[in-house]
Parts: sequence; structure tokens; C-alpha cells
Amino acid sequence: MINIGVIGYGYWGPNLVRNFAETPGTNMAAVADLDPRKLEIVKRRFPAAYTTTDFEDLLKDPAIDAVAIATPVHTHFALGMAALRAGKHLWLEKPLTETSEQARRLIDEAQRRNLVLLVDHTFIYTGAVRKMKELISTGELGRVLYYDSTRVNLGLFQRDVSVISDLAVHDFSILDYLLGEHPVAVSANGTNHFPGTPENLAYVTLFYDSGTIAHTSVSWLAPVKVRLIHLGGNKKMITYDDLEPSEKIKVYDKGISFTTDPQQIQEMRVGYRTGDMWAPKLDATEALRVEGEHFVDCIQHNKVPDTDGHLGLRVVELIEATSSSMRRKIRRNGETIQIQRQEKAA
Ligand SMILES: NC(=O)c1ccc[n+]([C@@H]2O[C@H](COP(=O)([O-])OP(=O)(O)OC[C@H]3O[C@@H](n4cnc5c(N)ncnc54)[C@H](O)[C@@H]3O)[C@@H](O)[C@H]2O)c1
Repeated sequence: MINIGVIGYGYWGPNLVRNFAETPGTNMAAVADLDPRKLEIVKRRFPAAYTTTDFEDLLKDPAIDAVAIATPVHTHFALGMAALRAGKHLWLEKPLTETSEQARRLIDEAQRRNLVLLVDHTFIYTGAVRKMKELISTGELGRVLYYDSTRVNLGLFQRDVSVISDLAVHDFSILDYLLGEHPVAVSANGTNHFPGTPENLAYVTLFYDSGTIAHTSVSWLAPVKVRLIHLGGNKKMITYDDLEPSEKIKVYDKGISFTTDPQQIQEMRVGYRTGDMWAPKLDATEALRVEGEHFVDCIQHNKVPDTDGHLGLRVVELIEATSSSMRRKIRRNGETIQIQRQEKAA
């Protein structure tokens, strides 16, 4: 049994607490939040867990094996480092940290202490994203030509992070998992319509050495909620609508081919192939449940999480490169930034 303490019981924390309370192999032992009113709710819902306004109580408790942190991003590094130094396995919310240097330091600390560091990039544990990965890995999709995502809704406006860290981060992690390739360059345009607040709308394009191009539109200022990805391969194409209750993924046997007949080459003959469309059956298990069980398995069997610190670091590096491109002076806004990677802390 892995005893878990959760720090942060705001919007996302309750989902973690509920899942850890239900996951086989975990005991939801304690919850810390600065706000005693939130802890009152925990006491009513999970009477077996103790509560505290001081997260240090969880770190000092030798019975707690692992800590899950769901606090605002600017607190991730300090709280995460304190948890690792107290010898706790760590589940940290996305994005891992504010800066890539902080992410590298957390990775080093976890490695030095042989502790599991899992970054909660929840989408990686959904049946839909796993099915997309399978369709790429088996070669069914063919070579991935493009990824195009729309991730918009009204709010939630955040004070400490931009729409990139809030929404584009999901596309960055999904792309990392699906393609297994890091982009070499990024170009981003974005704006904050309300002075003094972080960017609330952005258009981000990522370029890959293989020729794949990826784009995401993210916004907190849309009248309706949209979560739609188009993924095009040279054999088949996929749409993934996360708001569909069932049939989230649709696979289209569609594509084009150019003739290789030397007689016709001058005429640029394009053949359009339109075959069947089908909706594969997806694993409907809640992603956080899959992820919680995976966390326990990693702790018990010394395994590396699918969303480990290195994936978290690559995502933070992309947030930095994207923000840098987006924040160039107005005339150069959207300038393409070459991406340089660094794994080790300075
Ligand atoms: N994985 C996902 O899909 C997903 C979705 C939403 C949010 N998140 C992430 O979860 C994290 C929290 O986001 P949120 O929307 O729940 O924020 P929130 O502001 O609603 O909640 C944060 C909570 O942390 C508490 N807190 C802050 N500092 C603390 C401290 N030192 N000790 C104890 N408690 C403290 C606050 O009192 C608050 O209750 C963020 O990193 C966010 O990016 C992830």
C-alpha cells in the first residue's frame, strides 16, 4: 500500500484525491491546503485522511511514501524540491516548473535519491491518445504529415500563467508522446487583450526535422468550448474530438497520391482516395485512474513513468521557446526560434 499525501485542494486537487482514494494500491492518507475551508470539505468526503494547512506536516510524516502537488505553477519547484529532499516519491502537476533550469534540478534530485518523478500530463493516459499512438506505431497512419489542434473556451483566466502553460501544454505533451521527436523550431503569435494579464490567446506552430508540422490555436476568449485535433498521415487521417461522449476518435481512409507515370508527370496528376471512416473502440477508464495505477507500479517496481521528468522538461522548454517567440517586439512577433535542448542542470 502506497500512502499518498496531496498538497493543493483547489480546482484540480479534488480530482487527484478522489482518484487516489479509489485506486487499488494507494491509501489517501493526508491533504494539505492553505485554506481551512477547503480542508473542511476533505474531512467530510474522506474522513480517513488527515488534513493540515502546513504542507511540511506531510513531508515530516514517515508514513507518507509519495506526495502529489496540485498548487499554482510558481510554487511547483519549491514544493517539489522539498518533497524530494524529504525522500517522497513525487507526482507534480503540469507544467513541471516555471523554468527549464528548475525542471532539470528536480530531475537530478529525483535521480540522485532514486525517487519516482511523474509529471501529470493527463492526456497521455487517455484511451484516445493511446489509440492515436497505436495507429502511428503500427504504421496504419503512415508518415505523420501534420497535427492541427484547436483548444479554446471562455476562461478560466489565470493570474500566474499564460494560455500557453494552461492549454498549449496539452498539445506539447501529446505531440511529444505521439511523435517521439522534438521540434527544431517554433513560431508563435499571441496577445493579452487585458493589460497586466498573461496572454489569453495564441497561435503556435512547431517545425520538425522529419517534415511534420504542428499547429495549435489556444484561447480563453472563445464563446464555445472546442477540443479538436486533426492528425494527418500519408496513409490515413484522424480526427479527435475530446468533447464527443463516445466515438472521440475517427479514422479516415483518405489521402492523396501523385502519379509517378512519366507520361503524366507534366500534368501534376493528383489522385484522391476516399475510403471508409470508422471509430475505434477506446478504453474508457478515467485517465487519472490509469495514471494513478501507473504511478504506484513505478514506485513498487522502480519503473520510469510514461510522463517522467524528462518529458516534463521538454514541455517546459517548449513553453519557454514559444513564449520567447510570442513576446518579441511587435514587428518581430512570431519570429521563428531555433530550439536548443539541454538535459543536465547547469
Ligand atoms: N492535469 C491537468 O489536466 C490539470 C488541469 C487543471 C490544473 N492543473 C494544474 O494543477 C495545478 C493547480 O491548478 P488549480 O487550477 O487547481 O489551481 P487552484 O488555484 O484552483 O488551486 C491551488 C490550491 O493550492 C493551494 N495552495 C497554494 N499554495 C499552497 C501551499 N504552499 N500549501 C498548500 N496548499 C497550497 C491553494 O490554497 C489552492 O487551494 C496547476 O499546476 C495546474 O496547471 C492540471
